[in-house]
Amino acid sequence: MAVTFPIFMDAQSTTPADPRVVEAMLPYFTQKYGHPASRNHPFGWEAEAAVDTARSQLAALIGARDPKEIVFTSGGTESINLALKGVAEMYREKGNHIVTTVIEQRAGLDVAKRLERQGSEVTYVPVQPDGLIDVEQIGKAITDKTVLVSVMFANNEIGTIQDIAAIGKLCKAKGILFHTDATQAVGKIPVNVEAMGIDLLSCTAHLMYGPKGIGALYVRRKGPRVRIAPIIDGGGHERGMRSGTLPVPLIVGLGKAAEIAREVMPEESVRLARLRDKLQDAVLSNVDEAFLNGNVERRLPHNLNISFAYVEGESVLMGLNKECALSSGSACTSSTLEPSYVIAALGASAELAHSSIRFSLHRFNTEEEVDWVGRRTIEVIKRLREMSPLYELAKEGVDLKSIQWKAE
Ligand SMILES: Cc1ncc(COP(=O)(O)O)c(C=O)c1O
Repeated sequence: MAVTFPIFMDAQSTTPADPRVVEAMLPYFTQKYGHPASRNHPFGWEAEAAVDTARSQLAALIGARDPKEIVFTSGGTESINLALKGVAEMYREKGNHIVTTVIEQRAGLDVAKRLERQGSEVTYVPVQPDGLIDVEQIGKAITDKTVLVSVMFANNEIGTIQDIAAIGKLCKAKGILFHTDATQAVGKIPVNVEAMGIDLLSCTAHLMYGPKGIGALYVRRKGPRVRIAPIIDGGGHERGMRSGTLPVPLIVGLGKAAEIAREVMPEESVRLARLRDKLQDAVLSNVDEAFLNGNVERRLPHNLNISFAYVEGESVLMGLNKECALSSGSACTSSTLEPSYVIAALGASAELAHSSIRFSLHRFNTEEEVDWVGRRTIEVIKRLREMSPLYELAKEGVDLKSIQWKAE
């Protein structure tokens, strides 16, 4: 099959919507446009029924017992805000301490920072060199003031999948609420809030082939019944937890995306892992001084993150980006030229943190695209290294750390 350019391989920043999702959404713009809270006419009933279906579709995907546990929001960022701020406010009497990790996505970290400014105490648990959290460290961080543990399910840069069930079990044993940012995991790998002891879960549609601008927060209703203070006040929609007219077409899209994901996940994850492994083997066997970031086993099937010593991630992207969309560091931080804080948290040097490239595959990538991206990446890295004096010195056996750079 011929390759069409540009190739999109940045599917952890967003995914293309599945055409079946768009098709399901369309009637809700111009034909079935009722307000789901209009209880007194068929337009409202129809819209409400569509929202209920979507709630059930998402509940089924994440193993929620009751569709009422799904609260629709505008996306992952809002869900994380609602979970952390909502719990901090609601349980203030009980305690003011939150445990989270250093590799959360910006939303999680920035909300934690704001809560600190407002008087909360936050412990940021470090990660091991392979990106995994040591569950014991979470246990040690918990105090009698802890009201919430928040750990991301799978990382957006390195794809590392945490032992969520073990953290859920620990929190349950200590009677502490557990939130997970599962934005990168839902629809890609099995997630089950019951089996994994999750009390609150954030997810978004645009990372699972659904539309942008819609997400959800799962809020457990039983064992324990979780209560959260709203961050948006108004008409009392979503059982008072998130006011605002429900965007029915987007919700229908999220529901359809969840239904498709549930159906195709077993096969799709195997196919994407095979293609990812092929890409990884091609690159690592042709480029020296290239280091895989994150745990090799406990990794999202569509994620590949490699640091290429002696080249800047941004230069690699510039060499590739007319034909192929990849990412260096997280898409959310690539507007700044800070080295990736996730790669740095693994203990990598600033140089290696600056040289990481994330390849993330999606449902519609073909084998030909993967082969093409592999070949082109190898070419670009080799060309950049030919121009790199540091690479040349290293190849000559010079220990770069021993060089005394002359100050101007
Ligand atoms: C791990 C993670 N959490 C949260 C978000 C934010 O989600 P949204 O873009 O729906 O606000 C993202 C977005 O990429 C993410 O990767």
